[in-house]
Amino acid sequence: MNYIVVLPAAGSGKRMRAGHNKLFLTLRNKPILIHTLEVFEQDPNCAGIWLAVKPEERMIIQEMLDEHHITKVKGMPAGGEERQHSVYACIQAAEHEADLILVHDAARPFIEPAVIKKLAQKASETGAAIAGVKAKDTMKRVHNHIIEETVDREQLWIIQTPQAFQTDILVKAQKQAEQDEFLGTDESMLVERLNIPVHVVESTYDNVKMTTQEDLLMGEAILQKRQQEEN
Ligand code: CTP
Ligand code: MG
Repeated sequence: MNYIVVLPAAGSGKRMRAGHNKLFLTLRNKPILIHTLEVFEQDPNCAGIWLAVKPEERMIIQEMLDEHHITKVKGMPAGGEERQHSVYACIQAAEHEADLILVHDAARPFIEPAVIKKLAQKASETGAAIAGVKAKDTMKRVHNHIIEETVDREQLWIIQTPQAFQTDILVKAQKQAEQDEFLGTDESMLVERLNIPVHVVESTYDNVKMTTQEDLLMGEAILQKRQQEEN
């Protein structure tokens, strides 16, 4: 199932405290951004990549793309104040390019091709499908450090990206959110508020977002594990 992918990459990485865009930090000598891009570069079903970037970083990113032979980037619109605005800039540039759009955090370099395939399949059948993993820990709702309830873990999923949508659904959801000045933390929230069912596809615990320094250690460990599995 052919799709295009939107990668928001216009953040500033404040929680990483790197002093610059965290996506330029390297894992095994390769920028996080390039690790993520390579997954889609190598997927034959990916028909194009749109990258939301900070205008002042466009040139350095273009150099990285050239150096690492990334050929599928079709557009690099300017990102916005919030992640949702960055994604919207890409959707506006790309909406006529495909019937299926995946949105994926550029900061999640370990997404597995098998999960992408399942997501694209499910979203093309149903309209909307997002990646998630089951919660492993006991979960409680807490108010002012006092437990209000223990939440049934069976019903709790930790949500990741990619999030895959039929293009018309995502465009409609984005436009409605903009009109209502509604800001969500993921694209699914925008679609949920239109009462459209969103399916959850089981992903892997490896698909972590590089957010704080500890995540980089985890990232190196994941790459080491993968290399050992190859040998
Ligand atoms: N992002 C974006 N535009 C923004 C904010 C975030 O394109 N205005 C992107 C980031 O580059 C990242 C993804 O959205 O790939 C997920 O966001 P997050 O992990 O929060 O990254 P940052 O916003 O860069 O980090 P922080 O919140 O710690 O500042
Ligand atoms: Mg952020």
